[in-house]
Amino acid sequence: MCGIIGYCGKKLAAPILFEALKCLEYRGYDSAGMATLYDGQLLVEKDAGKIDEVNQKHNLEALPGNMAIGHTRWATHGGATQANAHPHMDCHSRLAVVHNGIIENYQTLRHELIKRGHHFNSETDTEVIPHLLEEEMQNGCALEQAVLTVAPKLKESYAFLALSLDDPGKIVGTRKNNPLLAGIDGDNNYVSSDALAFSKHTRRLITLGHTEVVVLSSDRVEFLDAEGNKLVKQAIELDESWADNGKNGYPTFMLKEIMEEPEVINKTVQQDERKFTEMALDILRARQVIIAACGTSRYAALVGRYLFSKIGRKFCDVVMASEFSYFADSVDKNTLVIAVSQSGETADVVEGAKTAKAAGAEIMSIVNRPNSTLADLSHQVICLKCGPEVSVAATKAFISQLAIFYLLSFSMVNSFSKAANQLGDMCSRVSKTLNCNNGRLYELSHQLKDRSDFYYIARGINFAIASEGALKLKEISYIHAEGMPAGELKHGTLALIEQGTPVVVICPADYTYDETLNNAIEAKSRGAYIIAVSDRESEIYDYWIKIPRVDEIIYPMVAVIPLQLLAYHMAISRGCDPDKPRNLAKSVTVK
Ligand code: G6P
Repeated sequence: MCGIIGYCGKKLAAPILFEALKCLEYRGYDSAGMATLYDGQLLVEKDAGKIDEVNQKHNLEALPGNMAIGHTRWATHGGATQANAHPHMDCHSRLAVVHNGIIENYQTLRHELIKRGHHFNSETDTEVIPHLLEEEMQNGCALEQAVLTVAPKLKESYAFLALSLDDPGKIVGTRKNNPLLAGIDGDNNYVSSDALAFSKHTRRLITLGHTEVVVLSSDRVEFLDAEGNKLVKQAIELDESWADNGKNGYPTFMLKEIMEEPEVINKTVQQDERKFTEMALDILRARQVIIAACGTSRYAALVGRYLFSKIGRKFCDVVMASEFSYFADSVDKNTLVIAVSQSGETADVVEGAKTAKAAGAEIMSIVNRPNSTLADLSHQVICLKCGPEVSVAATKAFISQLAIFYLLSFSMVNSFSKAANQLGDMCSRVSKTLNCNNGRLYELSHQLKDRSDFYYIARGINFAIASEGALKLKEISYIHAEGMPAGELKHGTLALIEQGTPVVVICPADYTYDETLNNAIEAKSRGAYIIAVSDRESEIYDYWIKIPRVDEIIYPMVAVIPLQLLAYHMAISRGCDPDKPRNLAKSVTVK
């Protein structure tokens, strides 16, 4: 994973990079570092720890110079140590590199470089890059030429930036299978894994294609193809919501993003009706439809699957993107793959979509990043329009994804506007759900914070909400939680229910109510503490989380909100940072 950023311009680079790295921290936060070129010197500071910790220790922000590269790491090769933190340098400390990705052939390259006399300081795959560049630079070539020569030797995924004392005044970057975007702003130019890192300064950006090279200097940004030919590329302008990447007074990004949900529904439904109707027809016409996604996006897809069936009478399957390649044999030109990913960069989803495309399938993607790798390779792209989501645990993106599945399903029966209006009406109810439950769930979290296991049950369209509720809880509060169809409880998990075990029952007053309640009673009679998410009261509840009465099909959207809040308050009451859960990253760009 990891996030990289480069800046070249008239301002001091280090404070800009420090802020940018904080925006990229969602991509990894076990180590950080920066390199600047100043007064004929290459200055590098790096260490293990979150960016603020590394800054406190090494004063990253105070590094001098108008040109710098920076990195925030999620360890893959080599532990989170100072030596393994980026930037990495060549033998003579004349050039520095930051990298996102995995150089799969790094061991072979490393052995060859060692045989040729190079010394390595880290266990990372990345370190081969500065040593390979060093050899080219020793032949007297320009930095971009060195990058063009070295890049084809690297397998399989990289986005890296380099700067060198031997060709100062520029940052050179390239990418393959990992994102890299340039932010253009006259005398101040940026290059990063994510536009969020520079969107506060400029919203004009240019995405690099595979194997393209960017040469960034203070007054211009040039692009080259893999053969070194100059490219003319058009900048696009990001929507202004991308300039807002602060917490806006909230203590955490997660709470801010949950509280934005009512507004997010309004933004998401602003879609092109004709486009949706055509896409819905494509879904109906396809011989088989497969939805591929990971994590929270997969749970949104599971709700989508019910909606396609219930409203559009179209059966489809949802496959975990990491397992998708094992089903590739049955993918062909009659297959429509809907790839769902907030970031559009999740390696498993991108790989699955690529494999399916190569087999002739049509790729439709649902992303929040219109300039992402997944969007780039898709035939059709639907944008969530929910603005930047920074907290590792997805919340508002999930609500947006649900809204998109509603719009698509209703478009299958020519009722896009009906769905858009119905969802628009939901905003006030979602607000009410948030406001009524926030304080109560804070109290409940204090009551339950020391429980070690939670079970979430539901049926039908609400089953995915049980799974999403459990995922939220384990991701950010580190409590074991399982979500399952209520009917499955008695086929094994019931054995784990003891006196006081919390069982969260999602039982809105819909077609699933009676049967789900029966399963809750079975758990309660074994001692479970029943926390019900419902608009209908029952004496069997030990704790009732009230949700508003809505149209049967819409319940998932209101039922998930208190579960997001519950997980949030549980994390806070246990002293966990919900924005940066241990071991996780928001954008998993490795398989
Ligand atoms: C990671 C994150 C999850 C997220 C999943 C899919 O595992 O920690 O919160 O749901 O990736 O991300 P995507 O960007 O593809 O929706």
